[in-house]
Amino acid sequence: MSNAREPWALILGASSGMGEATSRALAAAGDNICGIHLDFRAALTHVEELKADLAAAGRDVLFINMNAADDEKRAAALDQLGERFAAARADGREPFVHVVMHSLAFGSLVPFLTQEPKDGVDRKKMEMTQDVMANSLVYWVQDLYRRGMLGQGSRIFAMTSEGSTRVVPSYGVVSSAKAALESHVRQLAMELARAGTGATINAIRAGVTDTPALRKIPEAQQMIEITMRRNPTGRMTTPQDVANAIVALSGPGAGFINGDVISVDGGEFITGS
Ligand SMILES: NC(=O)c1ccc[n+]([C@@H]2O[C@H](COP(=O)([O-])OP(=O)(O)OC[C@H]3O[C@@H](n4cnc5c(N)ncnc54)[C@H](O)[C@@H]3O)[C@@H](O)[C@H]2O)c1
Repeated sequence: MSNAREPWALILGASSGMGEATSRALAAAGDNICGIHLDFRAALTHVEELKADLAAAGRDVLFINMNAADDEKRAAALDQLGERFAAARADGREPFVHVVMHSLAFGSLVPFLTQEPKDGVDRKKMEMTQDVMANSLVYWVQDLYRRGMLGQGSRIFAMTSEGSTRVVPSYGVVSSAKAALESHVRQLAMELARAGTGATINAIRAGVTDTPALRKIPEAQQMIEITMRRNPTGRMTTPQDVANAIVALSGPGAGFINGDVISVDGGEFITGS
């Protein structure tokens, strides 16, 4: 029996890119990991390797392969996490969700104006992208709040990009989702504080980072070339840069940073060209 608080990180999009790097970094720092991801076939081998690595670091690991925007699956996932919490409490520990990271990459990369309707955005593509990449953040945080899983020291991060305020030809739908995501972060920050939860939420604006999600953007190669010229550090952002920032911002002393958009990009955003 011990009375130690038991920190868990809930990583939405844990199997790749920034979510994976952050899962590994937080596990090394002492958090148990609940990873939500959406993967098929070959990618599942990688997920098994990741889970084994996290467990080898001595952490409790719960990974669930599901659509993070599905209401029933979200409830079932939180039930599963709740069972882990109940087991920890029965053992005298005090589990809480220390970190939530919303790092889902799942959107339509099509322009608005096309001659062929199938080549452009439509209601389904627009709403699916908004739902996964922006609105799902609100529903996860609502459920965590209602279940009493957030507490003093809970730190929530939502991944945004420069695309929330800039245009790229194929990025219009995701761009609108990122703008909505940043707005959701502000609203949640105010409500979490007023409710006296002790939890904070911020958006992390990563620079251009070489991940599977970037490679799906039709303009990816051009974006990489521009970034290499423009980023004053002379390199792109890495998933590890983001993971390091989230570990630091989840540590003691960061509890008054709330509702902001924080760049993790080596100065890319402030460098015009
Ligand atoms: N790569 C960049 O240049 C860049 C820059 C700034 C912000 N971002 C943002 O960072 C976040 C993570 O991007 P990444 O580059 O690490 O992507 P990635 O493709 O490497 O990882 C995406 C993760 O999301 C999961 N996922 C996707 N759709 C899902 C769904 N419906 N339900 C559950 N899981 C789902 C995948 O399984 C995977 O674990 C995204 O929101 C992205 O827009 C990326």
